[in-house]
Amino acid sequence: MVFRFWLCLFLQLPTSLLGGAALVPRERFPLRVEGRFIVDRLGERVKWACVNWYGPESISFTFGGLEKRPVEDVVKRISDLGFNCVRVAYSLEAHVRNPTLEEQFVKANRFLIGKTFLDGFDAGIEALSNAGLMVIIDQHVSRAGYCCHWSQDEGLWYVPGYPEETWIQSLVNMTKRYKGNPFVVGMDLRNEVHDLHSNPKWGSGLMMTWGDGNPKTDWAAAATRAGNRVLAENQDMLIVVMALCFGMELRPMRSQPISLDLPNRVVYQTHNYIEYQFWNLITRDLGISFSTLRIATLISGVFFAAILSFLLRSWRRTGRAYPPRQLLLVSLGAWLTVFSCLFLGVAFAAYKAACTYCEWGAQQDFLPWVYFWSLTAVVGLVLVVVSWRPSGTASVAELLQVDKYVMQSDESCDEETDLFQKSDDRGGGSSGSERDITKPWDTGLVIRLQCFIVSVILLVMCGVGLFAAIVVDTYWFYERWLDKQWGFALEEGQPFTAPVWMGEFGYLNHGPFWLMFMRYLSSRDVDFAYWAINGIKYSEGFNGADGVYRPLPGGARWVVELYGILGPDWQTVKKAWMVRDLQALMDSPSRWLPTDIGCVTDFLGHFCDVPFRGPDV
Ligand SMILES: *[C@@H]1O[C@H](CO)[C@@H](O)[C@H](O)[C@H]1NC(C)=O
Repeated sequence: MVFRFWLCLFLQLPTSLLGGAALVPRERFPLRVEGRFIVDRLGERVKWACVNWYGPESISFTFGGLEKRPVEDVVKRISDLGFNCVRVAYSLEAHVRNPTLEEQFVKANRFLIGKTFLDGFDAGIEALSNAGLMVIIDQHVSRAGYCCHWSQDEGLWYVPGYPEETWIQSLVNMTKRYKGNPFVVGMDLRNEVHDLHSNPKWGSGLMMTWGDGNPKTDWAAAATRAGNRVLAENQDMLIVVMALCFGMELRPMRSQPISLDLPNRVVYQTHNYIEYQFWNLITRDLGISFSTLRIATLISGVFFAAILSFLLRSWRRTGRAYPPRQLLLVSLGAWLTVFSCLFLGVAFAAYKAACTYCEWGAQQDFLPWVYFWSLTAVVGLVLVVVSWRPSGTASVAELLQVDKYVMQSDESCDEETDLFQKSDDRGGGSSGSERDITKPWDTGLVIRLQCFIVSVILLVMCGVGLFAAIVVDTYWFYERWLDKQWGFALEEGQPFTAPVWMGEFGYLNHGPFWLMFMRYLSSRDVDFAYWAINGIKYSEGFNGADGVYRPLPGGARWVVELYGILGPDWQTVKKAWMVRDLQALMDSPSRWLPTDIGCVTDFLGHFCDVPFRGPDV
């Protein structure tokens, strides 16, 4: 007994000295939720420091790497790197059909030749739990293959051929299958739920909702139904619920947290990839970086300021005649309408674009601007119509022809003088003596007034643009944005407080996006699962830079997993900085600190990248 104790201590020492996430001993299960933390049987925090190991959800129907290394070797590599848990994905198609595995995918694990998807899945999960790693089973897709693109109908929890009941039965059957294995700690109900776009094969668009009771769209209700069925099978499971919109939108949970039959079981899941920072998409699609935007708005701002000062000086030289009130109101109203229509167009385009990814979020963030600019356009129009009417002194039509009066006779000056004085009275100015009111308000002045108003508006726009281009690129902004989207749930003591697990994130450059996100994960001490350990993948298609999914020409084949930790040999680490940074996140609290690597210029920049020169596929 004593010997075994010392042996265990000895065997565990190297791991703890090297760092990495603490493994949870068998007797510390089951896990529960307490506030924002996942805790073990003794109430100690368990940080899910996981990696995604995918494959069973794909058209290969089994874990990546089994073609190259024995399953225990791959698992040992995951464990060596310090992770304490693994998120494993599968498809309903694989579960329902349970197809026989192709030899090419299990070449290095000959015992699996001729065996099925479930045999392969069992083998992976057994190897993981033998190594002391926790397993979270991710119900990734219905039909086997790539996931998730906005044009795919996999965003709902049901698709043609795989109704809700099949989905729930599959979750329940998986729960039952691994009930005797305490290391299988969670059921991740469904990956990257998102809106269904109009699809000729599958009907009109459906916006995913949260808590509105619509049986076709209410994800919170569907997750509650499924979660309760899983808990009825095994009350010790944690139920992982995906945030809306590919895992970026947890805001509706704030007012409507999920409540299951058993308390303290819900973990929310979010994802984050560089394309989720939509302001990057805007600048990328426009082909301008934030630094360019900063310089452009600065130069334009100086330009408009110069025009304004020129106009002001020349106006002073003309004798400081104040614009007639009606002319001023009509001009302001007209320009307000013109620019409001312009902004309305931009807001509407942004709303439509955002709807492609996330209608719920678009309605929160962009629709108010559509309403706002519609309103200001109407206000501007009303101002024009109301001011345009003759009002005792002279109609605006007359005002605009004012120079004709000037040319016709000198008396017209007197008429104009009256008008100016009317304007003065409004301003309550006793400064009438300082102004030369004998000079009439002519066409030239009317045009200059228009230039003045437009320049003021453009100057303000440049200011706003410059401010935005500075702020959007800072960690300060990024932190607030993520807090608003899902980080709020980590605040202790709120009715909505819950653990949020960053179940997928990945990138290939040691640039600003990576560093900012690491800093956030570290400062909020977020549980995570990196995407992915896989070095290569058997792929039938890809998500192009334009956001459109395309099948690979020539059919499915092995391709490099850009965000993968390991190289195609399933042993070599591709990028040392990646592993170092992830390991720093594994402790609780995290010990990752922002590193000034002297290359942060732009959110999209990636000047610190060290290209991978490992063996090719
Ligand atoms: C789940 O198990 C039930 C009962 O054994 C079976 O009828 C059903 O087909 C299974 N469903 C799936 C998706 O595996």
